[in-house]
Amino acid sequence: MRLHIPDPALVLLVGPSGAGKSTFATARFTPTEIISSDALRGMLADDPADQAASAEAFRIVGILANGRLKRRLLTVIDATNLRAANRRRFRQLAARYGIATVAIVFDLPAGLFALHNQRRPDRVVDTEVLADQTERMREAMTDIRAEDYAGLFVINDTTTLDEAVIERAGSSGQGATTKSQADERS
Ligand code: GTP
Ligand code: MG
Repeated sequence: MRLHIPDPALVLLVGPSGAGKSTFATARFTPTEIISSDALRGMLADDPADQAASAEAFRIVGILANGRLKRRLLTVIDATNLRAANRRRFRQLAARYGIATVAIVFDLPAGLFALHNQRRPDRVVDTEVLADQTERMREAMTDIRAEDYAGLFVINDTTTLDEAVIERAGSSGQGATTKSQADERS
């Protein structure tokens, strides 16, 4: 699957915990392009799962995204992005600078979210939290199709998750990311 993404763009990753969003992003974008709510919770509280740090973490996500989009730099939001209101706020922020928003949606089988979670080395997400996110993911799938994106990419199997290639429009040479370049970086 080739994901054609304008450059610059705001890229929203959407999916429950364990979907593989961070793994996917790390292999395909540079570290400074990715704004991770987990990483910011980690910086604030020494614990990426500390929900008490979420409000502050998301304020910083907003500040960083604004600063990058103002500079017309491709920006990836690595968060679950399961709430329509949050996604709308990000779209509005990008639109303020005339930058397109694309969504990459991790619509994988619910069992896979749980399996990934069990296997992860960093932290295991509570079963109840995951069940709630899986339910919200179902709602998000309906909502997202009616939302306004310059590109909507749905990843719904593990082959695509592993093999999807990002192609940046308007950057056929320098700055284009191929799968092999992404692999070299990871
Ligand atoms: P949150 O940060 O909690 O929202 O989760 P996430 O969507 O960022 O998931 P993450 O990328 O951290 O992946 C969680 C675990 O799933 C990893 O530790 C891997 O074990 C596994 N995983 C993620 N992506 C892949 C993949 O493409 N293939 C396989 N086989 N496993 C994956
Ligand atoms: Mg993550």
